[in-house]
Amino acid sequence: MEEFINTVKERSDIYEVVSRYVPLTLKNGRFWACCPFHEEKTPSFSVSPDKGIFYCFGCHEGGNVFKFISKMEHVTYFEAVKLQAERLGIKIPSRKKTFAEIQDEQTKDALLKITSTAQNFYHNILMKSKEGEEGRKYLAARGISEKVIKDFQLGFAPDSWDALTKKIKAQGYSEKQLISAGIAVEKKNGGVYDRLRGRVIIPIFDISGKPVAFGGRILKVEENQPKYLNTPETEIFIKGKLLFALNKSSRAIISANEAIVVEGYMDAISLYSAGVENVVASLGTAFTEEQAKLLARYARKIIFCYDSDEAGQRATVRALPIMKNTGANVFILIIPDGKDPDEFVRKHGKDAFVRLLKNVTPVIEYLFQYKLNHTDYSTFAGKLQVLREMFPICLELKDSATQKNYLRKFSLTLVLDEGVIFEEWRKFLSRSPTNKNSPQKKFSTSKNSLIRQAGKSIIQKLWQEPEYLDYVKALTSKENFIKIHTEIINYIEKCYAEGRVPDDLTAEKELSAAANQEILNIAGMIEPQDSQILAFQDSLKLIRRVSLEKLLKQTLQDAGEFDKSGDSKNFAEKMQASLEIQKEIDNL
Ligand code: UTP
Ligand code: MN
Repeated sequence: MEEFINTVKERSDIYEVVSRYVPLTLKNGRFWACCPFHEEKTPSFSVSPDKGIFYCFGCHEGGNVFKFISKMEHVTYFEAVKLQAERLGIKIPSRKKTFAEIQDEQTKDALLKITSTAQNFYHNILMKSKEGEEGRKYLAARGISEKVIKDFQLGFAPDSWDALTKKIKAQGYSEKQLISAGIAVEKKNGGVYDRLRGRVIIPIFDISGKPVAFGGRILKVEENQPKYLNTPETEIFIKGKLLFALNKSSRAIISANEAIVVEGYMDAISLYSAGVENVVASLGTAFTEEQAKLLARYARKIIFCYDSDEAGQRATVRALPIMKNTGANVFILIIPDGKDPDEFVRKHGKDAFVRLLKNVTPVIEYLFQYKLNHTDYSTFAGKLQVLREMFPICLELKDSATQKNYLRKFSLTLVLDEGVIFEEWRKFLSRSPTNKNSPQKKFSTSKNSLIRQAGKSIIQKLWQEPEYLDYVKALTSKENFIKIHTEIINYIEKCYAEGRVPDDLTAEKELSAAANQEILNIAGMIEPQDSQILAFQDSLKLIRRVSLEKLLKQTLQDAGEFDKSGDSKNFAEKMQASLEIQKEIDNL
C-alpha cells in the first residue's frame, strides 16, 4: 500500500491537479491563486510544483497533492489517493471482491445505465421533438431559459404508455430491471408501462453527476393528480441521503461557505438560474440527519428558505434542530411576498433576493415567532408555555448577555414582567445543570480531561520508575501537560537529578497544595500491571499528538514568515518538515 501511494504521488503533478480547480498564475518561481479554502480577493495561495506542495499564507492550509484533493473533494486522505490513482489510470491494489459484491456492483451499473438512457431520452424529447413542444411551452411560461434547461438537463416524458420502456427494452434490459430502476411500473396482468407520462422531467443527479431518479411535473395541476410524480427509491437512489442540485452547486457552496436550502426542485432551479448558485433542495421530504451531515461538510452557514405557508414553516421548525446538531450556523430566510423562493426571485429579481440573504433570521427569533403564532399567549398560562418552550433554545446561546437580551425581548413581546421571566429562567437553569455548557465548551473540557487522564497515567509510571523521564521528554514537552502535572513532573525530574526517590513527604514540602492533592489522586489509581502499561503508552500517544499538533501549527507559521521575507530555501525546509509532522500525526 505504501508503495502504491508513493507511485501515485510520483506520477502526480500538483500544478495540473490544482489548476483543475483554480486558475494559477506564475510569479517569482511559484504559482499563485486565490485560496479555495478561505475567502480572499488577492491571491495568497501558492503551489510549488518542484516540491509537490501547496501552501496558503492566508489560512495556513498546506500539504501535498492528496491533502489538496481531500480538502477539495471532501474525502479522506486515502480516498484522495484512490481518486488521483483513478484519474492517472493507476490500478488500485485491492483485496479480492466477494461474489456478492461483484453481483451488487453489476446490478447497480445496469440500473445506472438505464437511468442515464432515460435521462437522455427525456431531454431529447424536450429539446427536439414535436411531442416535447408542450413541455417547452410550459417551461418558457415559467421563465426557464434554454440554458437552464440544458444546465439541469430537464426533459419531457411523452404522453405514452411505453415510449421509454420500449426503447430501453430494445437495448436488452429486462422488464424487471426497468422496474428496479424505478422508471417502469408493473401491470396487474403482466408487462410494464412508463411510470412518468405527459410530464416535465426533472432528473435528480447524485453528487458525481449521474442521474439516479426523476421527478415529473404535471403541466396543469388537476384535482386528482399529484403535482409531482417521482420515481421511487431504488438501489441507486436513497432519498434521505441526497440533496437536489448539490452536484451543480457544491463549488459555489464551498466558496461562499454558505448554503441555501429550499423545498422544491423549481425553487432550486430558479435561484440557481437567477445567479444564486449556492442552493440545494431537500427533495420534498422531511430534512434528514444524513442530509444535514452532508451539507455541513460543504459550508458552515446554512440558510433555510422554505415556502412561507404553514407546511413550509412546520418543515422548517423540524429541520432546524437536525441541522444545528452538526454544529453549523443556522438561519432562516423568510420570504415576505409570494409563496416560495421561485416566485419571489422571478417577481423581484436576484438583487432583491440577495438583500433578503443579508437579513436572515436567527433560529431563536424564528422559533419565538413561530410559537407566538401557534399559541394563545393572551393568558398567563399561555405566556408561560411559550417561555418554557423557548428556554432550552435560549440556553444554547453562547453568552449570557445575549441570553439576557432575548429574555428581555420575550418580556416585551409577551407583556410579562421582566422579574417574572428572570425568576422562571433561574428556576429553569437550576433544573438543568448538565446543559449549562455550550457544545463548544463541552468539547474543550472533554479534551482537557483526556489530557489530564493521560497525564495521571504517565505520572503514575514516572513516580515509580523515574528512568522513563528521558523517554517521555523525548516524545513531548512538559508544557503539554496540564499545569499541576508539569509541576509534579518537574519535581520528579529534580529528585531524579539529585539521586533521590520522589516521595509524599518531600513533595508535601516542595509542591503546591493542588499538586499534592493530585499526587494523592494518582496514588489512589489502582490498575493491574498490564493495563497500567497500556494506559502509559496510550497516554503518551495522546500527549504526543497534542505536542505534534502545536509543532505543526508553529512550523506552518514559520514557513509563512520565511516566504514573506523571500527566503525560499528555509520556506521549503519548513514545508517539508510540516509534511513530516503531518505524517507522524497520521501514523499515531
Ligand atoms: P412545492 O409544491 O413547493 O414544489 O413542493 P415546487 O418545486 O415549488 O413546485 P412548482 O412546480 O413550483 O409548483 C416541494 C417539493 O415537494 C415534492 C417535490 O420534490 C417538490 O419540489 N412534491 C411536491 C412531490 O414530490 N409531490 C407533489 O405532489 C408535490
Ligand atoms: Mn413553486
